[in-house]
Amino acid sequence: MDRRLQHGVEPVGERPLLPEARHALVEAGDLRHPAPEDHDVGVEDVEDDGEGAGHPVLVALEGGEGGRLSLLRAGDDLRGSGLLARRLAGEPLQYVLGEWAFREHDLLVDRRVLIPRPETETVVEVALAEVERLGERRGRPDPWAAAITTFAVADLGTGSGAIAIALERSLPEAEVWATDRSAEALAVARANIAGTGATRVRTAEGHWFEALDDSLRGELLLVVSNPPYIAEAEIDALPAAVIEWEPFGALVSGPTGLEAIGTILAEAPGWLAPGGVVVLEHAPHQADAVVDLARDAGFVEARVEPDLAGRPRALVARLA
Ligand SMILES: C[S@@+](CC[C@H](N)C(=O)[O-])C[C@H]1O[C@@H](n2cnc3c(N)ncnc32)[C@H](O)[C@@H]1O
Repeated sequence: MDRRLQHGVEPVGERPLLPEARHALVEAGDLRHPAPEDHDVGVEDVEDDGEGAGHPVLVALEGGEGGRLSLLRAGDDLRGSGLLARRLAGEPLQYVLGEWAFREHDLLVDRRVLIPRPETETVVEVALAEVERLGERRGRPDPWAAAITTFAVADLGTGSGAIAIALERSLPEAEVWATDRSAEALAVARANIAGTGATRVRTAEGHWFEALDDSLRGELLLVVSNPPYIAEAEIDALPAAVIEWEPFGALVSGPTGLEAIGTILAEAPGWLAPGGVVVLEHAPHQADAVVDLARDAGFVEARVEPDLAGRPRALVARLA
């Protein structure tokens, strides 16, 4: 098996920035930033559509790792900012930019949190479909109804807050709990919650369910998590851009890679309402194991949904 597919965590692609780059590069025409010899810093030919002024500067950076095209974005003037040097040092584009898109929101991201991945967007879709199936997803988001919540859901290990914020946006009647063991990650999540106006998301620090108030026992309709799922033995196979830059505690679970998933599944029945659902992201090669863990924990239904690449990626486990 392809080693990269096996551990299931790859660097986030940079393609999404390309259309924006083409649109905004016109401003960067006078950019003269020193670059190492094996890199060409330049700008692409773009049509000046008159909207260039005030746009972020983007730099096309060719060469280096496999000659691939990378893009940087900064304020009006990249010179002297140090951003280019950071990118050339291998720091992921998303951290250099300080933000990355997840569903409809641009989220603050830095080294305190995992960079949100496209496969996690699929996990959110799967979770929302489950809530709809449970008959609790009604209507369109209504800001005036924001104070009225009729059910509670939780995103355990929220990191940047990506999943919790996406759930809040699509579930107008939900109280959303966003937890993390990392106080640093929660600080980023809180900034993103404030920045996106996700007024029904509450944060709590601690180990998985232990972060939650006891009053939520037996009350949660849905628990979603993208927990660490890399095994210690897989660390060497991870791309440098992942293991050298993203938080170790967000990536690596333990000797088997299934420790965090196993803990969440074992504890979830005590926190879910009857008929409640857990949706967990996992590595493709863990599909059979996570279904077994869910059945062992007492879930009556356990199945795996694919990500956009067709790889088994999201466990759905439902209580009776
Ligand atoms: C793979 S990251 C997911 C971040 C975010 N939910 C996402 O999908 O982009 C896993 C997160 O779980 C948190 N975490 C790791 N161990 C934990 C534990 N025992 N209890 C609570 N959170 C934990 C990490 O700090 C990290 O933020």
